[in-house]
Amino acid sequence: MIPFSLLVVVLVFGIAGAADGVSGYQISCGATSEKVVGDVTWVPDGRFVTVGNVSDLRSPGVLPVLSSLRYFPDTSARKYCYVVPAERKRKYLVRTTYFYGGFDGGSAPPVFDQIIEGTRWSEVDTAGDYARGLATYYEAVVLATEKEVSVCLARNDATKSSPFISALEVSPLEDSVYNSTDFESYALSTIARRSFGHDGSAAVSYPGDRFNRLWEAHSDGMPVVESQASVSQAAFWNKPPEDVFRRGVTTAGGRGERLELQWPPAPLPAASYYLALYFQDNRAPGPLSWRVFDVAVNGQTFFAGLNISTAGSMLYGDKWPLSGQTKITLTPAPGSPVGPVINAAELMMVVPLEGRTHPRDVIGMQALARGFDNPPADWAGDPCLPQGNSWTGVTCTQGPLARVVSLNLTNFKVGGSISDGIANLTAISSIWLVGNNLTGPIPDMSLLHHLASGEQPTDRADSSITREHAKVCAEQYIARDDSKQPQEQNGLYVPICTWE
Ligand SMILES: *[C@@H]1O[C@H](CO)[C@@H](O)[C@H](O)[C@H]1NC(C)=O
Ligand SMILES: *[C@@H]1O[C@H](CO)[C@@H](O)[C@H](O)[C@H]1NC(C)=O
Ligand SMILES: *[C@@H]1O[C@H](CO)[C@@H](O)[C@H](O)[C@H]1NC(C)=O
Ligand SMILES: *[C@@H]1O[C@H](CO)[C@@H](O)[C@H](O)[C@H]1NC(C)=O
Ligand SMILES: *[C@@H]1O[C@H](CO)[C@@H](O)[C@H](O)[C@H]1NC(C)=O
Ligand SMILES: *[C@@H]1O[C@H](CO)[C@@H](O)[C@H](O)[C@H]1NC(C)=O
Repeated sequence: MIPFSLLVVVLVFGIAGAADGVSGYQISCGATSEKVVGDVTWVPDGRFVTVGNVSDLRSPGVLPVLSSLRYFPDTSARKYCYVVPAERKRKYLVRTTYFYGGFDGGSAPPVFDQIIEGTRWSEVDTAGDYARGLATYYEAVVLATEKEVSVCLARNDATKSSPFISALEVSPLEDSVYNSTDFESYALSTIARRSFGHDGSAAVSYPGDRFNRLWEAHSDGMPVVESQASVSQAAFWNKPPEDVFRRGVTTAGGRGERLELQWPPAPLPAASYYLALYFQDNRAPGPLSWRVFDVAVNGQTFFAGLNISTAGSMLYGDKWPLSGQTKITLTPAPGSPVGPVINAAELMMVVPLEGRTHPRDVIGMQALARGFDNPPADWAGDPCLPQGNSWTGVTCTQGPLARVVSLNLTNFKVGGSISDGIANLTAISSIWLVGNNLTGPIPDMSLLHHLASGEQPTDRADSSITREHAKVCAEQYIARDDSKQPQEQNGLYVPICTWE
């Protein structure tokens, strides 16, 4: 299933958010040099990706970050990955931005998938926004299980031209942020994050939000209140920016009147959602500056008798089932002299991860890839996941913990050597390396108990076995004189293959 992701849009022409010092990586895809936009420095993407071609958009006046992109014409690769350094077991906010700009001479942007940490995150379909002159962004929160975060694009059945990407941001989050979600099993995909009561003004972003989140202004004609008291960001779960509490929306003032928000405005597919609501009594602090009201979502009680003060409060539901239109209703307590007020909200889809690949196999495959001079184009990101987007030549078991069971690099024409790391692929049962130009010693594979020793054909069970327990054979054009005869060798410069 491809999880739905509501497209949130950014203006293509205008001033981009943040200030210098935002942590993590702000990557401008296809850029050849740093781009300074406002106070943010965007770095070129060459460090993070080894595949694809770059293009510059000619349209004058396009935001610098959107004026270059990277696209992926190679139709044989199963995915195209960016790999960004990360801290193990830390949560990251990941944002991908797409602006087509007709870079390939076509009139409509391609549709394709995006993958995060081995899970199909969503389809990327920017046609609607592009037709309105807008860029599209997607955002998710994931846990880095190892020392990197991978974000990949992949073709799907609807893909008619080269997938592309304009920008990628990966920003670390504090442990306490969104900590009710089990990120070992789920990711969150942002549907909407809004700051209520702000009229069409710019989104609150870094440095107002130190985690680089975007809180878009939302106004739909409800009475706006200005806050007389400041809040402390630290007092809130998820650390929302103080700026979003400057204003809020309330009712017209009739006693007992409910506040009804049709938010988010677009209908949602049936799924579980993380919903967080932020409130503050906007009046000057005082003994009577509090409000009590009930909060309901689609008519179901979300919280009864919420009492908010000038210090503010937040409510969240970590797996709230929603579908179709969403209505948030705030009903004041009977006899309450003041109406309810709300300042901000976040809605994220809870996306089950498609499992994990055994870390041992990830480490082993990465070591193998590093040993090759020219690994296949899709040998980056997760070696097994998502299903159907494993590395070319790699077969894995399915299930919550994927294992590499076979490696077939027949005729890949890769050069380099076979890393010792292959010894970590402890679930592997077959390896075919014929048709490559590999040199160097054959690693010790004595720990690879599943390697099918019984399959060794008798007619090759001779001098071509170079190590007693290395269940690969070396044959053909071995270094030195005779390029045809398999021969004993001293462990150096041996092209490697297996029996077939
Ligand atoms: C993309 O780049 C590769 C190598 O850098 C080149 O061979 C290929 O022709 C380029 N493709 C396009 C469509 O420009
Ligand atoms: C989440 O973070 C808050 C602090 O912001 C803390 O009080 C709470 O105990 C944490 N919950 C979990 C499940 O770690
Ligand atoms: C709401 O909280 C305030 C303190 O912030 C308290 O004085 C007041 O009694 C509470 N109201 C109700 C109805 O619980
Ligand atoms: C290995 O790959 C080659 C080339 O793609 C193919 O011809 C061969 O059948 C594969 N071997 C196995 C055992 O899958
Ligand atoms: C196998 O993985 C471990 C970490 O799990 C690593 O320390 C070790 O170096 C790897 N072995 C080889 C031969 O690369
Ligand atoms: C194989 O590798 C050797 C040494 O690196 C190199 O000289 C040779 O040209 C390579 N052959 C092919 C077919 O790539």
